[in-house]
Amino acid sequence: MAIITIQKMRHEHISSVVELDLLCFGGLWNAQGYQRELESPNSDLLILVISQNTEDRNKEVVFKYSNFQSQLTYNQSIIGIGCLWAILEEAHITILGIHPQYQRFGFGQLLLYTLMRSAWERGLERATLEVATSNTSALSLYHKFGFQDVGRRRGYYQQTGEDALILWRGHLDDSEFEQTLSEWHRQVVARIDGY
Ligand SMILES: CC(C)(COP(=O)(O)OP(=O)(O)OC[C@H]1O[C@@H](n2cnc3c(N)ncnc32)[C@H](O)[C@@H]1OP(=O)(O)O)[C@@H](O)C(=O)NCCC(=O)NCCS
Repeated sequence: MAIITIQKMRHEHISSVVELDLLCFGGLWNAQGYQRELESPNSDLLILVISQNTEDRNKEVVFKYSNFQSQLTYNQSIIGIGCLWAILEEAHITILGIHPQYQRFGFGQLLLYTLMRSAWERGLERATLEVATSNTSALSLYHKFGFQDVGRRRGYYQQTGEDALILWRGHLDDSEFEQTLSEWHRQVVARIDGY
């Protein structure tokens, strides 16, 4: 049995997160980039940790789940990273990645749910992000959370020249959104329970 937590990232996590960034994105941000985010009051930087230590007393835990069946190679590993920037009334989701060995267990949607919850707690009105047109996994995930394609940035990715789609999800400040969050929570926990 393993415990899954989502925690606020701290300085001591930087080197593990940079390694994970390399695996998930091929090196999007370096250590200085993550340090800058940690220092910014407008950033929510979250890590998803899988661990065998059920006595985790970390006060920075924002989500905890303790029934995941897993044979762990290590005692504790950071297997996911997510970040949003709060800019005026918008949540800009800048990073969402799950370690390749832990993809398709429902952790991507767990992290996205938690980011959307953070955006709502900050009182933001809408969320936005860019995603490569060929990234069908991510697109499918975002569409499930009500994101809609609203535009395209041509040649956005310098290395490949690929276009990015611009996605938006509005109505975070509607009174019904709290109910939507509860429903997402139920779904993400049920999904992880399936394993
Ligand atoms: C995108 C990413 C975060 C998804 O994480 P994940 O933990 O594998 O996703 P989940 O298991 O939570 O899946 C949730 C939904 O995402 C979609 N999805 C995820 N992986 C998929 C795949 N390989 N093919 C098709 N759909 C996929 C599905 O809609 C899935 O729901 P379903 O399983 O009910 O069909 C992960 O693939 C990743 O880290 N990719 C590399 C980094 C990246 O591209 N990030 C997005 C940048 S914008």
